[in-house]
Amino acid sequence: MSKLFVVSNRVIQDGVREGGEGGLTTAVWSMLKDLHGSWIGWSGSVSDDESVQLKMASGVAIYTTDMSDRAYEKNYCGFANACLWPLFHERLDLVRYDESDFSSYMDYNRRIAMVLSELAQPEDLIWVHDYHFLPLAQICRDLGMNQRIGFFLHTPFPPPSVISALPNHWQSMKTLLSYSLVGVQSGFDAENLQSYLRQQSDGNKASEPLVAAFPISIDTRGVISSALACTGSSDFGSETKRSSVRIFSADRMDYSKGFINRILAYDQFLSKRSDPCPDIQYCLVAPDSRENISEYRNHKSEVMLLLLEVQQRWRDDYENCIEMINQPVAPEPLLAMMRASQVGFIAPLRDGMNLVAKEYIAAQNPVDPGVLIVSKFCGAGRELPRAGLIAVNPHDISEMARALEEAVVMPRTERVRRHRLLMSHLLEYDVKWWARSYLKSLQAESCLSMSDTSVTV
Ligand code: ADP
Ligand code: F6P
Repeated sequence: MSKLFVVSNRVIQDGVREGGEGGLTTAVWSMLKDLHGSWIGWSGSVSDDESVQLKMASGVAIYTTDMSDRAYEKNYCGFANACLWPLFHERLDLVRYDESDFSSYMDYNRRIAMVLSELAQPEDLIWVHDYHFLPLAQICRDLGMNQRIGFFLHTPFPPPSVISALPNHWQSMKTLLSYSLVGVQSGFDAENLQSYLRQQSDGNKASEPLVAAFPISIDTRGVISSALACTGSSDFGSETKRSSVRIFSADRMDYSKGFINRILAYDQFLSKRSDPCPDIQYCLVAPDSRENISEYRNHKSEVMLLLLEVQQRWRDDYENCIEMINQPVAPEPLLAMMRASQVGFIAPLRDGMNLVAKEYIAAQNPVDPGVLIVSKFCGAGRELPRAGLIAVNPHDISEMARALEEAVVMPRTERVRRHRLLMSHLLEYDVKWWARSYLKSLQAESCLSMSDTSVTV
């Protein structure tokens, strides 16, 4: 019987979601609890201990290993998050390329490939996640591993002209050719990747891996029941929300998430309001992320400064019109906050998917739901039915300010209609759909050469 091995940099330690670990872990954890596979990744600790630790949680075998000081600095804080991350989010101004970072990234990939080669049997299926592991399959092949190895990119894949700005772009990206299947979040990302690969391989189709879009999703039914279970447990508001106005955002403190523009839009929205509502509040839950990378610290200072400015500007008119919770919130209280707010304001500048947008919808009370404002430049904004959302350009402050006004005055019948539309989509395309459709495609590919591989999906 074959097993499923998932590799990602971040894993859920001890099987407990603390909040703020990111969308990859939310989705992979939901999937693995269902499929009872194995998960390999970073322990979150920095040390020279190269041993592999195993913990069992909810039927999932979680194998972790520490990262050395050098690997943390040059692989994680260097090539992965100060070079590939800004590149994939079209922030060329922030891309820091350093050859020694790249070589540490390759070393770390070799180390994880060794761990994988010792654990995975020839009949197993391997699913590698995210930009931390672009070359993993190629290294596994060099080690003589013949398993089907799939890859899924959680970030956007930008247009070829952006990728080409990376000094060693083809050296980095051609490693993707060793995967049997490369999954991305949207048709937009798939087109960009395919056209980049075509350009690089002079239109030679034979050398392209199978690239397809599999929009990642949430455990929709699980979110609905958790949100219902914690109704009333949020001090942020209650089920009857109409006497006050609550606008809500939750995202890691990352420059790709567009916090500055969201706050500016909220400020403009307040200044344009003809009908002031004294009990209005915008709450941003933004836990620190990658704080050891200078661009993240600079961005946080900028956000905090702007927040203070806006708080001071409005302090005579409102008691507490904008609030930032700069720490992770556990999943249930976070859902309670979503349910208690009239507006989910999700406006990343670029984002692979943004699962918060989907969670916000599933957390709503169906008879009095909130309204989702979502960026056109994230997977959720591309995938969810447009008629159910207010889609915005996250660079257009005035458009977002108008969207906030439209959302807070939207009649209940219209909110219910929109919510139904979005929910029927999310019930059909949930995280199980994502995992099944990806793994079926990977297995279908594998059937050509490995007919005995059958992970039950
Ligand atoms: P990313 O993967 O870039 O962090 P996503 O929106 O896809 O973005 O996923 C974020 C995940 O982390 C979601 O499951 C969300 O509930 C969770 N999350 C986001 N913000 C917070 C927060 N402030 N505290 C706790 N969990 C959060
Ligand atoms: O979803 C994007 C992602 O980069 C994941 O790969 C990652 O686990 C998450 O965001 C959080 O980032 P980090 O693992 O660097 O804290």
